[in-house]
Amino acid sequence: MIGRYALVGTTHFLCTALALKILNFILPCSLTCYYSCAANFVMCIIVAKLTFGFTKRKFLSDKIQPDNRAVFITGCDSGFGHALAKQLDSKGFHVFAGCLDASGSGADELKKNCTKRLQIVPVDVTKDDSVKEAVNFVKENMATSELWAIVNNAGIQKGFLVELSSIQDFKDTLEVNAIGPVRVTKAFLPLLRQSRGRIVNIASIAGHVELPMCAAYTMSKFACVGFSESIRHELDVWGIRVISIEPEFFETNMTDSGNISRRIDESIAAVDGDVKADYGEQFIKNFKMHSNLVVSSSRIHKVLNAIELAISLEHPDFVYRPCRNIFTRMFFKFYEISPKVLKLLIIKFLLYITNFPKPKEADNNL
Ligand SMILES: NC(=O)c1ccc[n+]([C@@H]2O[C@H](COP(=O)([O-])OP(=O)(O)OC[C@H]3O[C@@H](n4cnc5c(N)ncnc54)[C@H](OP(=O)(O)O)[C@@H]3O)[C@@H](O)[C@H]2O)c1
Repeated sequence: MIGRYALVGTTHFLCTALALKILNFILPCSLTCYYSCAANFVMCIIVAKLTFGFTKRKFLSDKIQPDNRAVFITGCDSGFGHALAKQLDSKGFHVFAGCLDASGSGADELKKNCTKRLQIVPVDVTKDDSVKEAVNFVKENMATSELWAIVNNAGIQKGFLVELSSIQDFKDTLEVNAIGPVRVTKAFLPLLRQSRGRIVNIASIAGHVELPMCAAYTMSKFACVGFSESIRHELDVWGIRVISIEPEFFETNMTDSGNISRRIDESIAAVDGDVKADYGEQFIKNFKMHSNLVVSSSRIHKVLNAIELAISLEHPDFVYRPCRNIFTRMFFKFYEISPKVLKLLIIKFLLYITNFPKPKEADNNL
């Protein structure tokens, strides 16, 4: 199989090189000049992008004052939301920390370790009434502050391979990750229109690069990115900025290997016996082992700093993509712009070198 791919790839490369050589030979000089102009143009765009990034960081880094500015964050029980609530509180923002369980350990820790300014708000982003109550709570407790930003951070990950996930896994994931930000944004927009504030949506690398064996989560994050991209235009007229944060893998409860194994077990428990038999016990066992091969970064400050910039810069970027280092950034960028056939080959290669298991009956169906 790999031999056939190599043959097709080499033939494609040689044909392209040959065609370009022939074109160069037969086309009049004026036309090849157009080619070189086009190449120069592309180079100019790349250089302009790099210098613009540099100039923006250097000269457009003014920050707004946090005094009397309130920020509402969902999903503060743990992970990014929890750490962000602490960070923004320490910077002087009036933080409304939305917690799924307002009497849980996450909320207790926030109360203990933050200033009196920080207030816990019970909120379940899948429920209209709960979100409405959160809006009322914020309105009643803003005092002299204005609502400057909302951070749609609450998220879940359920479901892995499509056949080994239930429809409920898909529904739950979409309800929290995709509809949740819509519900919260709609409810808080009247307050944000008054302050000409910000909407910060915590999407994911999975919102622009598909994660294999993780369709439900990938769908939900593509939807979240689409939501940000679309409403950015319609809310511009109100002076509201929409910023999408798209991190790669970082260490939180969501990426904890024990939690991933538990979620795989929960999904598989709901699968038909026949399907389970086609995949085989060994596959399921090895799949669980392999799902722990994705190494998350402990540098979650990269994500927190990106969100803080989105909230506090006068001129924030539209999108932040926090990565652990330049190599993962380059890898994801390369993957993102690769043609689909190359993506397929890259993933095949990665699965091959990590000895990813095959379902028991996969070979019989070829
Ligand atoms: N960690 C990563 O590598 C990574 C990468 C890219 C994007 N993200 C995104 O970052 C966001 C935060 O995730 P995290 O990594 O910090 O994981 P996390 O620690 O599991 O945090 C998710 C938070 O959302 C809360 N939550 C779940 N369902 C909710 C609901 N229906 N209503 C309100 N809150 C709800 C959770 O509460 P409980 O703790 O009570 O369940 C938890 O506090 C998510 O949107 C996630 O998709 C994470």
